[in-house]
Amino acid sequence: MTSPPAFLSSLLDRYKSPAGQSRPFVTLTFAQSLDAKIAGRGGKQLILSGRESMVMTHWMRTMHDGILIGIGTALNDDPQLNSRFSNAREFSNLTFLVSARYLPPRDPDPSVNGHNHSYNLPRPIILDTKLRFDPHCKLLKNYTEDKGRRPWLICAEPSESNEKKEWMIRRNTLEKAGARVVPLEYDYDTQEYLPIPLVLQTIHRLGILSVMVEGGAQVIRSFLLQTVAQSASSLVDTVIITVAPIFVGEDGVSYNAGSGPSSALKHASTAMFGQDTVVGLFLP
Ligand SMILES: NC(=O)c1ccc[n+]([C@@H]2O[C@H](COP(=O)([O-])OP(=O)(O)OC[C@H]3O[C@@H](n4cnc5c(N)ncnc54)[C@H](OP(=O)(O)O)[C@@H]3O)[C@@H](O)[C@H]2O)c1
Repeated sequence: MTSPPAFLSSLLDRYKSPAGQSRPFVTLTFAQSLDAKIAGRGGKQLILSGRESMVMTHWMRTMHDGILIGIGTALNDDPQLNSRFSNAREFSNLTFLVSARYLPPRDPDPSVNGHNHSYNLPRPIILDTKLRFDPHCKLLKNYTEDKGRRPWLICAEPSESNEKKEWMIRRNTLEKAGARVVPLEYDYDTQEYLPIPLVLQTIHRLGILSVMVEGGAQVIRSFLLQTVAQSASSLVDTVIITVAPIFVGEDGVSYNAGSGPSSALKHASTAMFGQDTVVGLFLP
């Protein structure tokens, strides 16, 4: 199989025809336990997804222009956020592994991908108001080794001059390490977080037509709160949740969605990937 699982195509193929929107299509996706935890005690990263649903997630990554996470996840997990193991040549002698653990072999096609990789590599986008990003992280290493795209850091430039000096130093360090710093203009002092509508408008202007939001807890909550029933102001199109058959326990990290999105999102389909149940919801 060299095309995405039918489960994903049925949910995401409509993204191929963007119809004059001012923001990207947004897929909110994450893995959780049966007791709705996305990480262990103290934020300990848990590999909740089994191999089959992990491969499904990597397929999903190839279907989006960008992957967005919060700085909490970037610092805690040091993720790679690429469509991994996509260079079939590296694995051509490992066919048995390819079928189980990786995306299937495919020749690189620069005319489709704009780069010399077999699959689309999504752009890592990090919500990082104060530029706390680590200049030695895997995302920057992957970028310099041509295994991932240049990460974009969405941030806010402080107005206070003493804060600004420190911020400029961090900005220079991160830019030298390969990151693109994207400051947003908004009223920094009145908002706890970067405003999601402005984040989406900004990345859309920079060419991101579809984005997969992968977490963590605070970012999931922020985006779930942006799903509003049948409203033009709703900012999430699809939600794809992998449910792993384990309990984490009360010390685990929850995203506490509250009652916000429950009536807005409609069930589209549910599929089994290995032992995991993957539920797809959409905003009609
Ligand atoms: N199971 C899964 O699928 C999955 C996926 C990803 C992560 N995780 C887990 O999630 C945990 C991390 O979650 P987290 O809540 O600590 O961090 P997070 O959601 O990744 O990042 C939160 C931070 O992002 C920044 N931010 C800026 N604008 C925001 C906005 N509009 N909404 C929300 N955040 C915004 C804030 O920091 P500043 O104010 O400094 O900008 C905020 O503290 C880790 O344990 C990780 O393993 C699980």
